[in-house]
Amino acid sequence: MTKDSMLIAGNWKMNGLSAALAELQAIAAGLPAACAQADIAALVCLPASLLSRGAEAVRNSRLALGGQDCHFADSGAHTGDIAAPMLKDAGASYVIVGHSERRADHCETDELIHRKAEAAWRAGLVAVLCVGETLEQREQGAALEIVGRQCEAAIPAGAAADRLVIAYEPVWAIGTGKVPTRDNVAEMHNFIRQKLHRRFGEMGEKIRLLYGGSVKPDNAAALLSVPHVHGALIGGASLNHKDFLAIIAAAATLP
Ligand code: PGA
Repeated sequence: MTKDSMLIAGNWKMNGLSAALAELQAIAAGLPAACAQADIAALVCLPASLLSRGAEAVRNSRLALGGQDCHFADSGAHTGDIAAPMLKDAGASYVIVGHSERRADHCETDELIHRKAEAAWRAGLVAVLCVGETLEQREQGAALEIVGRQCEAAIPAGAAADRLVIAYEPVWAIGTGKVPTRDNVAEMHNFIRQKLHRRFGEMGEKIRLLYGGSVKPDNAAALLSVPHVHGALIGGASLNHKDFLAIIAAAATLP
């Protein structure tokens, strides 16, 4: 997979009122210049409350939109939850599943995330499935084992490059300004790649692997140029169109 086919994904988390749609529009408007000639895919995962209006605001642009979570059921008595077909109906083409904040705040397990990814696929959404170890697990030397187990349990059979993206996000790097070394990222991405290859054969080679956790304009090129990194999942820096576009521009200039 070439660096040309990267995915730069924003995750606005629980941020964004109506006024933030101007920021979304500025991202969409700046994309052609930021991508230059490169075939970079750009995505923003919005709070569900902004999805329909966001879709309206960026219609006719190359910016894709996503949700940040979905229920494993397609509809039903699940107060306060959102179903994958609802996200699709509101204008999403992607949905994040298994983000570490959902794992922590809502006790989400790999088995649940597995079912959510399947629900995303049933609705025709691309699942951006997050994996990653805590600081304690890394310090104990268990990072590969933990992420390996997450991959095995959370990724459903039937994974394919056009409907699954894996985001490796070390929990300790999210929102902290701390980033792993390039060697750590390379080791983990290579490990995930081997796992996908063993399980899904040639298709496993094509599934995009993103890095996420404190990606900023000034470290984006270094992180995105690591082998087997095909894009980034970006929280804080996706809230500001200048930062987000600068990261996309950094991706576009990689060989
Ligand atoms: P951050 O968040 O870029 O603010 O560290 C990344 C994420 O949680 O996806």
